[in-house]
Amino acid sequence: MFADRVLSGMRPTGRMHIGHYHGALKNWLRLQEEYECLYFAADWHALTTHYDASESIADSVWEMMIDWLAVGINPSRATLFIQSRVPEHAELALLLGMIAPVGWLERVPTYKDQQQKLVDRDLSNFGFLGYPVMMSADILIYRANMVPVGEDQVSHIEVTRELARRFNHIYGREPGFEEKANVAVKKLGSKKARRYAELRTAFQEKGDAAALEAAKELLNETQNLALGDRERLFGFLEGAHRVILPEPQPLLTATSKVPGLDGQKMSKSYGNAIMLREDPASVTRKIRTMQTDPARARRTDKGDPGRCPVWPLHQIYSEPATCDWVVKGCTTAGIGCLDCKQPVIDAIIAEQEPIRERAQRYLDDPTLVRNIVADGCGRARELAEETMRDVREAMGLDYS
Ligand code: TRP
Ligand code: SF4
Repeated sequence: MFADRVLSGMRPTGRMHIGHYHGALKNWLRLQEEYECLYFAADWHALTTHYDASESIADSVWEMMIDWLAVGINPSRATLFIQSRVPEHAELALLLGMIAPVGWLERVPTYKDQQQKLVDRDLSNFGFLGYPVMMSADILIYRANMVPVGEDQVSHIEVTRELARRFNHIYGREPGFEEKANVAVKKLGSKKARRYAELRTAFQEKGDAAALEAAKELLNETQNLALGDRERLFGFLEGAHRVILPEPQPLLTATSKVPGLDGQKMSKSYGNAIMLREDPASVTRKIRTMQTDPARARRTDKGDPGRCPVWPLHQIYSEPATCDWVVKGCTTAGIGCLDCKQPVIDAIIAEQEPIRERAQRYLDDPTLVRNIVADGCGRARELAEETMRDVREAMGLDYS
């Protein structure tokens, strides 16, 4: 409904590892070339599972920000900020909480999953149940339409979409909507107005989804509309209410999953990660000692790359020719595991060199990062405040 806007966040877990890089950050880098992007540290979300470890959150946020910048997130293209520095997120989360059915939240798959997995955590809190509400506020407050996330977050975006729909349905109603919408249609000018009406009829009477998209496109191309009219015209296409909070889409771009050194999911807490700023000697040691196909106990034993956690690393880091060399050498015992690992070691070290260099600039001068994030928080607050003005007004909480 507004310009394309990308938003994504991560809970601060400290330094990033190569799994974060291939799984998310490379995608963020691509998106910043094409769209307006907002990337933030979800420090309040960290509290939903770790309220008793709050003292380390700030350090983790700064380490994470350094890594984002070090991989090439460009502050002149992407707004970098911290959730808790934009307190409007909390205001919107509270308001959305009023219309969020508890049953929806209890049915989000991550709710029960996490409670079963994180047995050492106290997760019987209101804050943890409200995780998807807070996440919805993060997204809707910027009216972001694209949210790059992993598969595990899609159910949260589904809640976001439902909450947006519910909000618009409840608070987008206004007396005389139909008349006001028709006045707004006329303001499009006669040619566009006719086209809008045709497309709207095609959608409403025949369920023509392409017509709906074309009508939205037409509105997106129309610059000189007052905000109230814009909301009405979007809303009028589908129903009888204004669209104050547009529904976002998850962006499930194919990314590479980097397994940890033991073949499990890479995670700092499992002790199986290679960090982005790991020194070359340590990268070498970690890869050289990592597990391989258990069938290759001796150099003369034949192996199967399909049973070896080194193989997925080749698939990410090596050229097809090298991959062929691995398959052939492994299955015929033609190469040793250390031979096999060397190209991966070299590729990881080469990939990390520019990242380590860029990180050093920020480590040498921490005010650089502070300033970038302070600017980002300021910009985010301006955008958030714009939405909150509309939200308060729609709810009748406008006391000006
Ligand atoms: N829940 C996300 C995660 O754990 C982090 C997050 C919080 C987020 N708010 C968000 C991601 C809003 C995208 C949009 O990965
Ligand atoms: Fe794994 Fe390579 Fe050894 Fe085969 S040769 S078991 S793929 S490390």
